[in-house]
Amino acid sequence: MDEIGLFEAIYSARALRRFKPDPVPDEAITRVLDAAIRAPSGSNQQHWLFVVVKDAELRRKLSAIYHKSSQLMMKFYANRPRPAHMSEQEQNRLLKSASYLFENMHEAPILLLACLKQEGASAPQNLPPDLAEKMRGLQRTSGSSIYPAVQNIILACRAFGLSTVLTTLHLLHEDEVKAVVGLPPEVQTYALLPIGYPRDKFGPVKRKPVSEVAFLDRYGNPWKGKAE
Ligand SMILES: Cc1cc2nc3c(=O)[nH]c(=O)nc-3n(C[C@H](O)[C@H](O)[C@H](O)COP(=O)(O)O)c2cc1C
Repeated sequence: MDEIGLFEAIYSARALRRFKPDPVPDEAITRVLDAAIRAPSGSNQQHWLFVVVKDAELRRKLSAIYHKSSQLMMKFYANRPRPAHMSEQEQNRLLKSASYLFENMHEAPILLLACLKQEGASAPQNLPPDLAEKMRGLQRTSGSSIYPAVQNIILACRAFGLSTVLTTLHLLHEDEVKAVVGLPPEVQTYALLPIGYPRDKFGPVKRKPVSEVAFLDRYGNPWKGKAE
């Protein structure tokens, strides 16, 4: 396993959705998972769970659920305007790549479910009512204890020449996904990552420039630095 530098991984780990059938060594997956669990979690709860699905029949079932979800999602995307920063060609490329995965997720030799176990994550019972109310309002943090681990997975995969993509469409039929792998009610899934050796090339990852999205001191005052 030849590893690459951190920044090379960050700049080249683009979403690749077509996989070779070649098996992925268990040792590589173990290292990827070990990188995942180095991520931070709220209050260091480490209430994550990862299900590595290798069995071909189970992969087919998950792939079929992903496909079903994608058909629902296509209705949502049908009339959505193209984001301003993407050319028509870029948008079409993304749709083509995403559509391939809609039909063929089972081709990835590994499907990885990244989950959180909510049991240990519940708030203490004796909070003052106003604080309890505010805590309930923190819905937007729900995935923040798992997505850093997911990003570690993406980068660790890249380091081993494996490609992956963070997908969430399965959430439209999450109960069915949970039934396939026998997850109990207190476990929620946050990402379904197909993993394998890519049929396409890594990187470069193209994004809007820092100067468009970062500010100095106040919103509207662009951060002017330019990365070399
Ligand atoms: C929260 C989130 C959800 C995503 N869900 C899906 C998905 O369900 N299916 C999919 O093919 N890609 C999904 N993606 C991948 C994005 O489409 C991809 O990261 C983005 O287009 C950038 O791709 P690039 O790194 O190749 O430029 C998701 C990414 C994120 C961050």
